[in-house]
Amino acid sequence: MIPLPPPRRRLPHPAGPVSWQDEPGTAEGPAGPGFWAVMGHAEALRVLRDPAAFSSHRAGELPPSSAMLDRLDPPRHTRLRGRATRALTPVRVARFTATARERARTLLAGALAAARAADGVLDLAADVSEPYTSLNLADLVGVPHADRRRLPRLSETEAVADSVEYARGLVVHRRRYPDDDLTTALAHDAQLTSAELEMLVPLLLTTGLAPMRDAAAGGLRVLASHPGAYRRLREGTAAPEPAVEELLRLCPPLLTVRRTAAADTVLSGRRVRHGDAVVVFLAAANHDERVFTAPGRPDLARTPNPHLSLGAGPHLCLGADFARLQLRVLYEEVARALPALRLAGPVVPSASGVADGIASLPVRAG
Ligand code: HEM
Repeated sequence: MIPLPPPRRRLPHPAGPVSWQDEPGTAEGPAGPGFWAVMGHAEALRVLRDPAAFSSHRAGELPPSSAMLDRLDPPRHTRLRGRATRALTPVRVARFTATARERARTLLAGALAAARAADGVLDLAADVSEPYTSLNLADLVGVPHADRRRLPRLSETEAVADSVEYARGLVVHRRRYPDDDLTTALAHDAQLTSAELEMLVPLLLTTGLAPMRDAAAGGLRVLASHPGAYRRLREGTAAPEPAVEELLRLCPPLLTVRRTAAADTVLSGRRVRHGDAVVVFLAAANHDERVFTAPGRPDLARTPNPHLSLGAGPHLCLGADFARLQLRVLYEEVARALPALRLAGPVVPSASGVADGIASLPVRAG
């Protein structure tokens, strides 16, 4: 598998909205073939919306017949995505609101009680956003309670084989014991083959967790670092929906998404050749001054806010509604539980190069 390039801050030549980046060998790895870095918002949209020119399939990986949804191009992608969208309806997603709220309240109350009984510090990442997002995903996908502790491990990229095997068993379980969840809906869709099912369910387990967890913790970190913004959210002068979008814009957990040029083409005046790797830097596009005024400043009321943290075009995040719901409920409940959000120690990152994660976010209990 071709290693993904380093995040924006480490790019050696970020010249303009589209630039060629060499990948010389380093102590960490051998030289790569190089890639196009797409940093501009309009250029990113062009790439993400044109799967005929910029393919999601990667040479040298699984053949299209067994590739995951996110690595497919139309028409296979269109058909499968349509089946998955039918199962992940807005009504099904909305039904999780009450459970997510109850969960956020319980986790916050528990973490606050433990903090008050100890040193007055709670970890909003490890004790709140991590279990919150993991258990919400378990509800959505229909992971039985007995298996939930396995979820973080199953969503790791190295555990694809385990998650495929787990998903196979889950499909059998949900055929026998149906519930109001995504696996049940997909397992009862007569138009999906078992191979397609065995690809879709593990994909939800692997893609639904890490970005969700990192977006939640990232948004809380921005709020903890900007007391004025937090106060507006808490007092209700900043509405939660645009606040969610702005926090997503500032903290895209997936730093890059990758495509391969499917034909010779021109992008922002640069000649891209068939087979070239094209990497869209979501954080850079979200800071494009041609689109966002004062992009470094959190503006919780920013409207419109065409950020690309959830992608765009045919591969737009399938879980976008569910992600927005979870973030809104979490921020509302944090604002209800904590009169002030003050950092109580260093924020510990868990960045891997493609995802911008937070392992620990210590804040004062009040
Ligand atoms: C805030 C949290 C999330 C963020 C920032 C996020 C981000 C993204 C992005 C940027 C893409 C596009 C990738 C590309 O163009 O190659 C994507 C695709 C996808 N996401 Fe999310 N995601 C989040 C939450 C979720 C959740 C909760 C689920 C599952 C319930 C999910 C399931 C998927 C799937 C299945 C795809 C592939 C869609 C396709 O290829 O058609 N995501 N996500």
